[in-house]
Amino acid sequence: MKPARTEKLVKVIANLGYGSRKDVTAMFRAGLITDANGEVLYADDRVAPADVRVDGAPLDSPQGIVLMLHKPVGYTCSTRDPGRVVYDLLPPRFRLRQPTLSPVGRLDRDTSGLLLMTDDGALLHRIISPKSNLPKTYEATLAQPLRGDEAEVFASGTLMLESETTPLLPATLEVVSPTVARLILTEGRYHQVRRMFAAVGNHVEALHRVSVGELDLDGLPAGQWRVLAAAQIEQLI
Ligand code: URA
Repeated sequence: MKPARTEKLVKVIANLGYGSRKDVTAMFRAGLITDANGEVLYADDRVAPADVRVDGAPLDSPQGIVLMLHKPVGYTCSTRDPGRVVYDLLPPRFRLRQPTLSPVGRLDRDTSGLLLMTDDGALLHRIISPKSNLPKTYEATLAQPLRGDEAEVFASGTLMLESETTPLLPATLEVVSPTVARLILTEGRYHQVRRMFAAVGNHVEALHRVSVGELDLDGLPAGQWRVLAAAQIEQLI
């Protein structure tokens, strides 16, 4: 089979959100696009993206990226919200990238913690599918002390949330203190953690996603992001 023809650099770089084709052409003219040895490249060149530098920095991968963001409270996982959105925490090119970068599942505005984002639609669906069974761990700070039967209720596989027609899959609760609990879910229904605690007469005052599968924030400060390495992505699927 013939190898796919490499596209002109100007198109590759514009699709990665670095600017319109006109902007990117101007970047070439200014000598900002080079190879790994600092040799200036031209808009029509067809060079492997891994060998391209933009102002000295490696070009983002066109193959599909997955990044983790430590989402702070107060940001929504949407592009349309009039308030602060998670894209405000990323370089503008990530918003403009084609295909677009989307959150892998959502965290509520008032939830903090590990949010994955990707432009790889197939990967996104594999991660969020209930079939993936990928555990997501949340830490919830509660208004009332735990009453003692929550672990049993959540593990039962029979808990039905208001206005739903199928019961929740069994979930694991670990008690951290009388008002703090870790909840491990393998599905992601709307406001699930808050609604589960509401179903047992409690109220979630603060919610933080600690991990997705084996992946945790590993000290990443709130508001910061990091691109995942291939081995980390493989662990997720
Ligand atoms: N469950 C919730 O209630 N909120 C989230 O953001 C995630 C899970």
